[in-house]
Parts: sequence; C-alpha cells; structure tokens
Amino acid sequence: MNKIRSYVLRPKRLTNLQARALEAYRSTYCIDFHEEGSDELTEFLTSAPAIMEIGFGMGEVTAAFAQAHPDKHILGLDVFLPGVGKLLYEIHERRLEHVRIIVHDAVEVISHMIPADSLAGVHIFFPDPWPKKRHHKRRLVQVPFLQSLIPLLQKQGYIYMATDWEDYALQMLEACRGVEELENSSNGFCEPQSWRPMTKFEKRGLAKDHVIREILVRKR
Ligand SMILES: C[S@@+](CC[C@H](N)C(=O)[O-])C[C@H]1O[C@@H](n2cnc3c(N)ncnc32)[C@H](O)[C@@H]1O
Repeated sequence: MNKIRSYVLRPKRLTNLQARALEAYRSTYCIDFHEEGSDELTEFLTSAPAIMEIGFGMGEVTAAFAQAHPDKHILGLDVFLPGVGKLLYEIHERRLEHVRIIVHDAVEVISHMIPADSLAGVHIFFPDPWPKKRHHKRRLVQVPFLQSLIPLLQKQGYIYMATDWEDYALQMLEACRGVEELENSSNGFCEPQSWRPMTKFEKRGLAKDHVIREILVRKR
C-alpha cells in the first residue's frame, strides 16, 4: 500500500487532567508500536471479539462503546496526545479494562501489528476530511487502505464509517464498491446507528449544516 500520511500533528497543550492520565495510565493501557508485532496485542485481539477504532480523537465513542460492550476488546489508534490523555482518564474512571491504545500511525499499525482474522469490526468516525482537492490523496479511506483491512477482518466482520463531508462520503462509498470482498447491504449510505454518541467533529459538521453520512460494509 502507498504510504499516505492522513494526519497532521496538531500542536496543542495537554490539560492537567490529560497530562496526569498519560503519566499514570499510559504504561497500563497503551501498547507500543513494534514493526515485528506484539504478543501482548495478539493475545488482546484474539481472546475476545475485537473492535478497532481508527482516529478516536477525544475518545468519546471509544469510551461509550466500551462501556456498552464489556464483552469486547477495543483497540483505539490515534496520534493526538490530548485525546489519548482524555481517553486514558475515561478508561480509569469508568474501569474500562478491556480497552487498549496504540499511539502511532494507524496505517503502520495495520500493516505491521494486527493479526490476520482477528477483527470483528473497524470504526472510523469523521476521519480528517482534507477538503482541498490537492490534498485528497491524504484521505485515509481509499481502496488500498480498505484492502489492507480485509485480511485482518473476520468473515462478516464490519467496517463502520461516518463523515460530514459529502464528497468524502461518496468517495468512501465508491472505494467500498472497489473492494470485491466488501458487501454493502444498504447499497448506499446506512441509517444512523443509534448507539453512536455525538463527537466534537460531528457537532462542528452539523453547525456548518453538513449532512452526516454513515456507511456499514461487511467482509463476505
Ligand atoms: C477529524 S478527527 C475525528 C476524531 C473522532 N473520530 C471524532 O469523531 O471526533 C480525526 C482523528 O484521526 C486521527 N488520525 C488521522 N489519521 C490517522 C492515522 N493515520 N493514524 C492514527 N490516527 C489518525 C487524528 O489524529 C484525529 O484525532
């Protein structure tokens, strides 16, 4: 897969709460990136139905989903440290012992660390939209990226995505159509899934009168 860099590291100071949570809980709930993979991660992803969230931001969905699904193992990937600190705080506060985080580029984590057939689902909510045409190549959800997820998904494993950028939503739909192993039972956008809590980026989109589009596809 071509190496895309789908994020910019936004320089943002940590709040005291985030800094304290990083200091106190990072070693317990974060798994380090290793090119050769990690036994700890393999054990985590293969000992319960596993859901991976790519780009969890401030972790609102991750924490809510984890709380509602104590039977699943949830892996969050992001590079944005204030969000990692906030999610670590929530993990500790809500005793979400079944969540792990890798603070690293998801594209690299996917190509090096996730075992085959280990994922029951993948969540990608409001990925960076890269609205300028010349930046579209930096959008995460493209055919090669989706293809890289296929071997990691179990049969009938799902990819659930949402965005408020109409042209990105259409591009996502088209990319899904371009991957033979993926089936879309809605044949287009799906109905909003009621369990998904509102995130900061969703609110921002709604404030600009953007329509929220959701896509749910499964591996055949
Ligand atoms: C626009 S924000 C959306 C965050 C959150 N999902 C939400 O709905 O509020 C996109 C997030 O994806 C993260 N991200 C983008 N590309 C990534 C990558 N390749 N690896 C890890 N995180 C990435 C960014 O750091 C950012 O936190």
